Amino acid sequence: MRNKITIVGSGNVGATAAHWIASKELGDVVLIDIVEGVPQGKGLDLLEAMPIEKRDSYVKGTNDYADTANSDIVVITAGIPRKPGMSRDDLLNTNYKIMSDVVGKVVQHSPKCILIIVSNPLDAMAQAAYKLSGFPRERVIGMAGVLDSARFRAFIADELKVSVENVTAFVLGGHGDTMVPLPRYSTVAGIPITELIPKDRLDAIVQRTRDGGAEIVKYLKTGSAYYAPSAASTEMVEAILKDKKKILPCAAYLDGEYGIKGLYVGVPVKLGSRGIEQIIEIKLTPEEKAALDKSAAAVKELCAVINV
Ligand code: LAC
Repeated sequence: MRNKITIVGSGNVGATAAHWIASKELGDVVLIDIVEGVPQGKGLDLLEAMPIEKRDSYVKGTNDYADTANSDIVVITAGIPRKPGMSRDDLLNTNYKIMSDVVGKVVQHSPKCILIIVSNPLDAMAQAAYKLSGFPRERVIGMAGVLDSARFRAFIADELKVSVENVTAFVLGGHGDTMVPLPRYSTVAGIPITELIPKDRLDAIVQRTRDGGAEIVKYLKTGSAYYAPSAASTEMVEAILKDKKKILPCAAYLDGEYGIKGLYVGVPVKLGSRGIEQIIEIKLTPEEKAALDKSAAAVKELCAVINV
């Protein structure tokens, strides 16, 4: 039987995720939105592209949650994106209302699904979805670290003029200004980047990574990034559906790991068919740990506002 993936939100991130997922033939895709016509139109358009792509992924757009029933994975992208000058945190109250509505309906129709949260502010929305769903933490995962690390990797590859395939990188912490890129754990063909890139250049790359979302918002003016965010979500979907046991930085509910309790923060996890199968604890220097704690405190502040 084919896998079923529902994507909530048919805006740029949701529709592009549907595109990547269908064109990788990861399963049948349901695109759902409250806006009438847009998910149906984009879904049909994608379905009609499948003969050209030679992919047997059925794509359906809908406004009815009954169509999402028994999904294996539900990717939640619903919410408003930021505009120039806004931080992700400015979206908190509006997107929390949307999340409250969406999660209830998703859980009712797909009680066994794995939730991947993409809406911003990411870590607080993941925490909200975890609390609203009542799911175990293994099945509620936030997408941010894969995106932030991909940006870091793209900039490192560009700096050294090497294949992106040679570059691994880790960005931990919350998906915000306090995120924690970890140069010590970032390598090119196994060589730590700290040995390849001079400190001033590396500092600039780290800062550009932290500002990666805002850099795109500034160009687009009417919204935020969507190609890389949806590709990052797709990598997580693939790791789960193919039970790849892939280690990726994701927002996970920590229960004492890294000395943090009761909070979603970005850390390396192992993704497989059960969702988060392991939280990987890596050794951090006192400076790195302090940066992670600062990032966690920023997430905690947001969660307190919406009481999750
Ligand atoms: C970004 C937004 C989507 O980082 O959070 O691009």
